[in-house]
Amino acid sequence: MASYYVTTPIYYVNDAPHIGHAYTTITADAIARWKRLCGDDVMFLTGTDEHGLKVQRAASEHDCAPIEWADRTVVRFQEAWQQLDIANDDFIRTTELRHHRSVQQLLQACYDNGDITLQTYEGLYCVSCEAYYTDDELDDGNCRIHRRPAEHVTEENYFFSLSRYEKPLLDWYEAHPDFVVPATKRNEALGFIRGGLQDFSISRTSLDWGIPLPWDRKHVTYVWFDALTNYITAAGYASDDTQFDHRWPGVHLIGKDILRFHCVYWPAMLMSGGVLPPRRVHVHGFLLVGGEKMAKSALNQIAPGDLVDDFGSDGVRHHFLHDQPFGPDGDFSYEAMVARYNADLANNLGNLMSRVATVVARKCNGIGPAPRPDSPLASAVTQCYGEAAEAWERLAPSDALDATWRIIRETNSMLEAAEPWKAEPGPEVDAVLGDALEALRIVAVLASVATPRGCQEVWRRIGMEGSVADQRLPEAANWGGYPGGQPVETGKPLYPRLR
Ligand code: ME8
Ligand code: MG
Repeated sequence: MASYYVTTPIYYVNDAPHIGHAYTTITADAIARWKRLCGDDVMFLTGTDEHGLKVQRAASEHDCAPIEWADRTVVRFQEAWQQLDIANDDFIRTTELRHHRSVQQLLQACYDNGDITLQTYEGLYCVSCEAYYTDDELDDGNCRIHRRPAEHVTEENYFFSLSRYEKPLLDWYEAHPDFVVPATKRNEALGFIRGGLQDFSISRTSLDWGIPLPWDRKHVTYVWFDALTNYITAAGYASDDTQFDHRWPGVHLIGKDILRFHCVYWPAMLMSGGVLPPRRVHVHGFLLVGGEKMAKSALNQIAPGDLVDDFGSDGVRHHFLHDQPFGPDGDFSYEAMVARYNADLANNLGNLMSRVATVVARKCNGIGPAPRPDSPLASAVTQCYGEAAEAWERLAPSDALDATWRIIRETNSMLEAAEPWKAEPGPEVDAVLGDALEALRIVAVLASVATPRGCQEVWRRIGMEGSVADQRLPEAANWGGYPGGQPVETGKPLYPRLR
């Protein structure tokens, strides 16, 4: 079985999750669900980044120890992911023992390789980014992302010799043209590397909320060395070599704010430690609210749970996957969410389900007929499935869902042309309804990665057994899988119209 290991960033626990975090996590969940349908041995990891100054400060502002603050905040992430039906296989916290071991093993491997040395450092540091910047990377001394002043810091730090990895990184990019996607983000990463790489600080003595360096315990690792390593910890680095060989390298989904760390620092750290770089890094843009990046440090955050209250988990997931293409920045709009929900979920999918169930109840005594082997819908379904599969492969959920929803539209058109609700019961009516049920079955499988709740309900109402998530592609998308002969259930609207 092919292994597919996919990760989200681990989010800082200084504050609660917002929809920016939800965006990456929903996308990773959808691709993980897709790969499971395809029969891959999937591991999907998310988690939290709990060390460092930023979290330490948040804790002291709330008069508690960092670990207490982390314990409290991590629950808010876990609850949000539960509300959104995120089916992660593991959840890593950087304060776990398994992670301490792994970070220390990677640090030691890089140190033994001669890539970590002690230096005195003076520079400008943005606490929100947990990163040092040079003057020309700042606007009037302000961090470009957080728009607040970088702080002057002097200390003795261990440095990682990133400058040694210019050539190896360029070679790696050359040999792996899809290492970073989309191409615009790959070019940005290459631009950093070609612009010349500076060694970066990996430890601090002024901080105690972190993992000590194994050879010099006065120092704790600086957050990025700690944070990035989570991806290999969870795959079994430093604990289970067989598992690690099977899982790693993995695929990372990240926002463009952390491109440099994932596309430059991380592969170099791994090369130094004798571990393969990740298989791929997928980089997306920012969700903007009123043209500004939404962030914990800004006031315009929106809690994922609030949206789930209004739209249900399926409504939120479908909107982000469909309306925010993976790659460019996109404006978040409540109105667009309402429109997408009403068009795709209430009108298209929801209506198709209730219309078919109602007519089957009236014309076929509630028993679903079998589809026609030579249905005019069959070739459209095959084509849409092919497009959806191809789009998921290149992580273009918006295109994949477009193709999937085309099946629903084709089916609705077929029904409108045939008008089985006006016809006398008989073979003609059975044929059209059997086709519609078969289309619903296939849509339930394909769309389940975006809208798992509604799709499981469609699956059940048309009389299919078990879990839609247990189906296997491509077989489950082959025309003719709906057996016919089982009861079809009418019920409340799957997705009640909003406003
Ligand atoms: O950077 N639009 O954590 P973080 C889209 N702990 N995505 C957004 C977003 C927005 N407006 N805001 C945040 C960290 N995100 C580190 C990561 S990984 C080894 C360590 C998402 O809590 C996006 O995925 O600041 C971004 O990369 C991530 O949240 C940053 O989360
Ligand atoms: Mg951030």
